[in-house]
Amino acid sequence: MASCRKFFVGGNWKMNGRKNCLGELICILNSAKLPADVEVVCAPPSAYIDFTRQNLIPKIAVAAQNCYKAPNGAFTGEISPGMIIDLGATWVILGHSERRHIFGESDELIGQKVAHALTEGLGVIACIGEKLDEREAGITEEVVFKQTNAIAANVKDWSKVVLAYEPVWAIGTGKVATPQQAQEIHEKLRGWLQCNVCEMVAKSTRIIYGGSVTGATCRELASQPDVDGFLVGGASLKPEFVDIINAKQ
Ligand code: PGA
Repeated sequence: MASCRKFFVGGNWKMNGRKNCLGELICILNSAKLPADVEVVCAPPSAYIDFTRQNLIPKIAVAAQNCYKAPNGAFTGEISPGMIIDLGATWVILGHSERRHIFGESDELIGQKVAHALTEGLGVIACIGEKLDEREAGITEEVVFKQTNAIAANVKDWSKVVLAYEPVWAIGTGKVATPQQAQEIHEKLRGWLQCNVCEMVAKSTRIIYGGSVTGATCRELASQPDVDGFLVGGASLKPEFVDIINAKQ
């Protein structure tokens, strides 16, 4: 049965690029074959949101990689959802494992950011995922359910949320989850949404996979019934990103 969920592919450029090489990447994306039934979003560093939005074709949306939980104020170094929208971007990535584990963001802070970003009108790519020691200790479900719960408590309109399952051990390591490992957790997350939110949200919410996705691994992952797209780091900076966008074609 075909899913009603539009395939979603996000490129997380992280803290990479300068105008010249990002400009080249944008040219490749602008001239690529982009299927009509795939939603594509690129997340440049905040310094390049404006540049990216000005140069990328309108069909590709732009996301920020983070934002703060307040509209304005004395929060040196932060950016607000209102500023992101002002630059023409429409999404924000929140709860990324690098924010959680390098910058010490808590479930509580991530929840507050999710609430504020949604209130201001941004779509949210909300990330969750277990660390290697948590997987090895057999507590993957417990960890991702707790993270999802902290996000869900702050969501009123699920049509603006994409859930990104990104096992920390797979991010930037070249060690991609197997299609079976991804499907198992995606199915459990959908079950969690069904029990804790409602059936409609469980059926309609995109659950995307992230962690060392490449042109070579994307097709089999995309064939899993509960994998509704990808959040791509390293490979989103290469022409190969176009192959990942076309994983379902
Ligand atoms: P990766 O990053 O594709 O380089 O593993 C994914 C992510 O951090 O979203």
